[in-house]
Amino acid sequence: MPLTYPNPSVLKEIADTCGTPVMIYDEDAVRNTMKEYVTNFKSDMFETNVLYASKAFLCKAIAKAAAEEGLHFDAVSGGEIFCLAKAGVPAEKIHFHGNNKTPREIEDFFRMGHGHIIVDNEDELNLIIATAERVKSQMDILIRVNPGVEAHTHEYIATATKDSKFGVSIDKEETIRNMINSVAESDYLNFGGFHSHIGSQILEVEAFAMEIRVMFDFLDKVANSWGVTVEELDLGGGFAIRYTEEDNPPSTEEVCSRIIALCEEEVVQRKLPIKRLMIEPGRSVVGDAGYTLYTAGCRKSTDSREYIFIDGGMADNIRPALYDAVYTCRNISRDEAEADRTYAIAGKCCESGDILIKEASLPETAPGDLILVHATGAYGYSMASNYNRLGRPAVVFTSGDTYRTVLRRETYEDMMALDVE
Ligand code: LLP
Repeated sequence: MPLTYPNPSVLKEIADTCGTPVMIYDEDAVRNTMKEYVTNFKSDMFETNVLYASKAFLCKAIAKAAAEEGLHFDAVSGGEIFCLAKAGVPAEKIHFHGNNKTPREIEDFFRMGHGHIIVDNEDELNLIIATAERVKSQMDILIRVNPGVEAHTHEYIATATKDSKFGVSIDKEETIRNMINSVAESDYLNFGGFHSHIGSQILEVEAFAMEIRVMFDFLDKVANSWGVTVEELDLGGGFAIRYTEEDNPPSTEEVCSRIIALCEEEVVQRKLPIKRLMIEPGRSVVGDAGYTLYTAGCRKSTDSREYIFIDGGMADNIRPALYDAVYTCRNISRDEAEADRTYAIAGKCCESGDILIKEASLPETAPGDLILVHATGAYGYSMASNYNRLGRPAVVFTSGDTYRTVLRRETYEDMMALDVE
C-alpha cells in the first residue's frame, strides 16, 4: 500500500509562504490516531489512560491537541513539563519520567501540583522523599522496573536489556521492596504500582504480550508474597509506524485490544486489584502524520551515485545518521512523473554521514524541486540541532486544505540571542 501524503498544491503553497525546510503535520491524522488510542484502549474492568510520550514531538499546539483528545502526558524533563504547563496541562495529567531528574526539576514539579512521578532508582527516590517533606505536597508514585524483555529493534533504542540504564532490574527484589517501603513511610507519597517500557518501533505485538506476562508474574509475587497492593500498571510505549511501503506494523486497534485483552485475562486469573492501566505511545501518535518538505539544490554525480543536495539534513533529522533509519521521499514538483531514477539525498551539513536517504526512487529531479520526506513526525524536530548554525525548520499543521504555522522558523537572531556580551 502506498504511503499517503497531503495535497501537493497545499504543500507548494506552504513552501511558498513558509519557506523550506518545513515540517508539516496532518493535524486531522494526528487527532484521528489520538482518538483511536482513546477509543480502543478501554476496559470495563479498570480505568485506562493513554499518555502521549511528548519526547516524540512537543510544542504547545500538539500538547493542546492531545489534551483536547483526552490524552495525558509522559514528560522526561523540566523543559518538557514547562512546555506542557504553558499549554495549560495540569500536573494531574503529567507523568514525570527520566533516569536522572535533578533536584530542581523534582521540586518544580512538586510545586506545580499533585502529579505522578515514575521513579527510576533509589537515589532518586531519596530526593523525592526529601522534596516532598520540604514542599509538603502530595505525589503519586510508580516505580520503573526493567523486565529484561528485549524487543526486536535498533540496539540504541532498546531500553529493557538487563544492563540498560533505565529502571530497577525486576530481579533486584530487595531494592524494589525497600523502595516500596520508603514510599509507604512518607506522608506525602502514594504508591500506585509499576512502570515498564521495552523499546521503540516494535513491530511485533508478541513483544508486548511477553512484557505483560513478565509484569503480571511480578505483580503476582508483589501481591501474594510481599503483601503489597498494586493498583496501577504502566506498560510504556514503543508501537511501530510505517516508514516505508514494506513496513507492516499492527494497527492501533490491534495493539490496544490485544493489550487490554491480555491484561484483563491476567487480572481475572490472578485476582489482582488492578484499577488503572496505562500506555505511552509517542512515535505512533505523530510519526507518520509528519513530513519534511525540502527544496532540492545542487546535484553531483560520482561513478556510483547521483546526489541531490537538500536545504536541510542531519540538523533537522539525525535519525539516518544515528540509527541508519530508512526514509522514503517523493518529488512534489513532478508528482505525476515516473520515479525511474535512484538518487542519494544528502543534506547540507559538514559531515560525510549527512545522507538522509541512500537510495531514493524519484523522477529526474532538478534544482528548485520540492522533495517531501515521509514519516518524519517523531524524533525529528525533537532531536534537531543547530549544527553548522542551521536554524530549526518552521512547523505547520494542516487540516483539510487549510494550514497554520505552530512553530516559526528559527532565525540567525534566535541563535545569537544566547550570546552574552
Ligand atoms: N515511554 C518511555 C518510558 C520511553 O522511554 C519512550 C521512548 C516512550 C514511552 C515512547 O516510545 P515510542 O512510542 O515513541 O516508541 N529517539 C529514538 C526513540 C527513542 C525512544 C525513547 N523512549 C528514535 O528516534 O527512534
